[in-house]
Amino acid sequence: MHAGILITLEGGEGAGKSTLAKKLSEFLMKEKNLFVVTSREPGGTELGKRIRSILLEKEMAFLTPRSEFLLFQADRAEHVETLILPALEQDMIVIVDRFTDSSLVYQALALGISSTDEYERVCDFATGGLVPNLTLYLDLDPEIGLARLSGPKDRIESHHLDFHKQVRAGFQELQKRHPHRIKQIDANCDPDSVFEEAKKWVLQVLA
Ligand code: TYD
Repeated sequence: MHAGILITLEGGEGAGKSTLAKKLSEFLMKEKNLFVVTSREPGGTELGKRIRSILLEKEMAFLTPRSEFLLFQADRAEHVETLILPALEQDMIVIVDRFTDSSLVYQALALGISSTDEYERVCDFATGGLVPNLTLYLDLDPEIGLARLSGPKDRIESHHLDFHKQVRAGFQELQKRHPHRIKQIDANCDPDSVFEEAKKWVLQVLA
């Protein structure tokens, strides 16, 4: 049992999650005097950084869908046990850039696997059943999101546009399945408007 609050940020490529994470943590720390930890998946721990480089290197094009999914779960299990849970147990607010919904979307729904029960059970095992108090899903047309990216694309960003369209459809589907936990925000606007909308949901969860 813990008294902390877990907020996860989800969305396709270039949706603005990292900018939002920064703005939210500054707001909660400076204006609300709360203790906030921000992290991301994959790569929130030392082990996670190594797993992240395997997952995102373009040379790893041969990864099979199941091994890819399980590598994300290994990253997550380590992250939950060594960083997220200890922070929640100290009553902190933990903001994580991507969590289980990304796995269900990128490794299942976007590949045409609509029955995600088996995937959810493995995610549950990785997280020990930890479910976010709030998930902010930044919804954006992938053509706009991909155009926002700078620098060379990683293995997953390099997938065909159709895959990224399926990612968007997958997140929208998950939002419909969990409307109380997942709040959809239009990310096709300026970062301040996204932040204002996100702040509204966060304050509701804190109240
Ligand atoms: P990252 O550079 O952190 O992307 P972003 O800034 O868009 O979050 O890379 C994370 C990539 O990993 C991103 O393409 C989504 C993908 N991913 C999955 O496919 N499954 C997962 O479970 C997670 C956590 C991420």
